[in-house]
Amino acid sequence: MPVLIGIPKESLPGERRVAVNPEVAKKWAKLGATVAVESGLGDVAGFRDAELGTVSIEGSGAALIGKADLVLKVQAPTDAEIDAMKPGATLVAFMQPGKNPERVRKLLDKKITSLSVELIPRITRAQSMDALSSQAAIAGYQVTLMAAQLCPKFFPMLTYAAGTLRPAKVLVIGAGVAGLQAIATARRLGALVSAYDVRSAVKEQIESLGAKFVMAVQGAEGSGGYARELTEEEKRLQAEALAKVVSESDVVISTAAIPGRPAPKIVTAAMAQSMRPGSVIVDLAAETGGNCELTEPGKTVAKGGVTIHGPLNVASTMPVHASEMYAKNLFNLVSPFVKDGVLTLDFADEVIKGCVYTKDGEVMHAPSKQALGL
Ligand code: NAI
Repeated sequence: MPVLIGIPKESLPGERRVAVNPEVAKKWAKLGATVAVESGLGDVAGFRDAELGTVSIEGSGAALIGKADLVLKVQAPTDAEIDAMKPGATLVAFMQPGKNPERVRKLLDKKITSLSVELIPRITRAQSMDALSSQAAIAGYQVTLMAAQLCPKFFPMLTYAAGTLRPAKVLVIGAGVAGLQAIATARRLGALVSAYDVRSAVKEQIESLGAKFVMAVQGAEGSGGYARELTEEEKRLQAEALAKVVSESDVVISTAAIPGRPAPKIVTAAMAQSMRPGSVIVDLAAETGGNCELTEPGKTVAKGGVTIHGPLNVASTMPVHASEMYAKNLFNLVSPFVKDGVLTLDFADEVIKGCVYTKDGEVMHAPSKQALGL
């Protein structure tokens, strides 16, 4: 029997991304899979049902999920969605590994095989599947446009009839996927950009984008290419080195993260308050608590004349390309295991092994299992 792939609308308020787009729906069908989507799936993501080709359209998300062998989603499933799933079905989404033991228990009870896109190994072969990277690139771009909107100055230098305006000074903290995209976007807008990251390899990448590298603490590589948490002494040195640059910046865009940990606090309240009135901090790390002590996740606050914006679910604010990139990531992850329409995941495959979250009633990702106390 061909695999029935079900793609429901996302139920999280404000989530505008979906797990398929017309191009990818046709690719699934070409592999012999049967694709079913919830009616109006693309209303918020830039396409009409009719553009999806030969898919079946279901009026109810629960009915659709109940039939599917493979459910593709963006956000982790709600309890109701898990309840609606067929026992033993497969699910791919941002599963938020290590969080929400109740939800995980439900997945285990139903013997759902779930793949968590956050756990896809950051290896060369998996780059085309790397949903964290595709969505981070969008977030880095969007967060810079948000900063430009909030900034009371032009980003570029501007010569006008009565003189010349200096370009805005932008500091990007954290130069991973989102940070590098933020640097590139701010540069395209003509700002004077400096940037900082604790990983040594990043200096060259920052400079290749035309930004100035800020030297503070270096060499804090952790495992898997990620940064590690800084020691107290390193944090002190970092704060010392960044204080002057922050105070001289018109805009700070912060994107620093440590996997599975709350965001490192890098911009202290005193540093934020040392910025000139009208300055802006856009804190992409708000999702995990924020890089700035004054960030209130999900809010825009003004403190001492400085605006601190802590946006959430930023990739969802650009749903057409975010959905396209995400849909392709999922296709590249799962399609190698669909032969003549039949899905047979190979759990010995390095990528599948890396991202399988629950299977046969067990949590397969050891750190999550431990975090969940299961
Ligand atoms: P992330 O979202 O975990 O962190 C963002 C950035 O914050 C990182 O560059 C990190 O070094 C930095 N950071 C952490 N603590 C900091 C602090 N105290 N001060 C300043 N910066 C701090 O990272 P992301 O963007 O997910 O990428 C992490 C790594 O994965 C990078 O090495 C990247 O090149 C690599 N990567 C590899 C891929 C592949 O080979 N398939 C794909 C994507 C990323």
